[in-house]
Amino acid sequence: MTLTKTVLITGGAGFIGSHLVRLMVNKYPDYKIVNLDKLTYAGNLENLTDIENYSNYEFVKGDINDRNYIDQLFVDYQFDAVIHLAAESHVDRSITNPLSFIETNILGTIHLLQAARNIWKENLTDKLFYHVSTDEVYGSLGETGFFTEETAYDPRSPYSASKASSDHLVRAYYHTYNLPIVISNCSNNYGPNQFPEKLIPLVINNIKNNKTLPIYGDGKYTRDWLWVKDHADAIDVIFHNGKVGETYNIGGNNEWKNLDLVESLCDVVDGLLGREIGTARKLISFVKDRPGHDRRYAIDATKLMTELKWSPSVQAEEGLKMTAEWYLKNTEWLENVTSGSYQNYYSKQYN
Ligand code: NAD
Ligand code: TYD
Repeated sequence: MTLTKTVLITGGAGFIGSHLVRLMVNKYPDYKIVNLDKLTYAGNLENLTDIENYSNYEFVKGDINDRNYIDQLFVDYQFDAVIHLAAESHVDRSITNPLSFIETNILGTIHLLQAARNIWKENLTDKLFYHVSTDEVYGSLGETGFFTEETAYDPRSPYSASKASSDHLVRAYYHTYNLPIVISNCSNNYGPNQFPEKLIPLVINNIKNNKTLPIYGDGKYTRDWLWVKDHADAIDVIFHNGKVGETYNIGGNNEWKNLDLVESLCDVVDGLLGREIGTARKLISFVKDRPGHDRRYAIDATKLMTELKWSPSVQAEEGLKMTAEWYLKNTEWLENVTSGSYQNYYSKQYN
């Protein structure tokens, strides 16, 4: 097959990136998909064993903070497009080690922008720099209201501040240098392959091991959860049909207070493990709150749904069940990522 495009996906060994890489490699056999990933604690090539030998796929290990390396990579591969997901992504880690978030999320992004700008001198209509971002850049909502694409940025954690900064840089390259860009800001994702430092896989893993389920603060913090493959589909739609220079919000229209979500998950996992319903709920434990904890996130995805005809396909009940089933079935994956340094992280974070 003749290849029509070479697409760089950064962070493709991570949670969302691995679902996107799989989708693109399978759906577009005429694209060459190059997955650049540093393989930090969150990157895992086991996420992609099913497609690792496909002829239109290549993995390269590298660091987006290494400017010379990135410049050379763009010269060597002459990418037509970039979908940029590589990031430090966990709010709690950004509170203990903000600097690595500044390095990867801000400096790493500008190295990629600069490298794209250096090689994309002509035929800019065929090129695209797609920056994958988060709804956390908009800050925290009260009981009502939604984030739209016009909501003013108000990041409140080192993670969200670093992502906001990268969004601003991507837009600055569009306005200043005409770099063709598009940005999406998505709500919380859940599903297979998420590193179990994030709420949902952490809770499933702890239930399995009869460990306490830590709920920060009063448990009434609210998130809008989206099935990860729906996010990958949305990225595909925006990548192909989004307007250059525009921003699209992506969300599941699926708000849960943390405590309600964890209680539901407890019952789902009890059911799957054949335990009496109510067993796992006894493991719930209220712990010290996260500093600067954003109260509520909720996305208005009207623009994406009306202009590009995307909508989420998986409902919460079905999604939570599929997620729990995946973690309970993929015991080797879970054991591999929770051995070693995970134990240190866990005991420092939760005493
Ligand atoms: P993740 O932490 O699971 O994966 C991040 C990946 O980036 C890992 O494979 C890691 O090895 C790689 N990486 C980190 N630093 C790197 C570097 N310096 N050079 C090259 N690779 C590096 O994250 P995720 O949850 O899959 O999130 C992916 C992107 O989506 C991030 O940009 C995040 O901000 C954004 N996002 C995430 C969510 C969510 O709920 N997880 C929601 C909205 C947006
Ligand atoms: P998380 O999965 O870390 O995503 P984010 O902070 O990016 O939204 O956390 C989701 C919510 O769950 C958030 O309100 C913090 C809360 N939380 C807990 O209550 N306990 C935990 O152990 C974790 C990891 C998160």
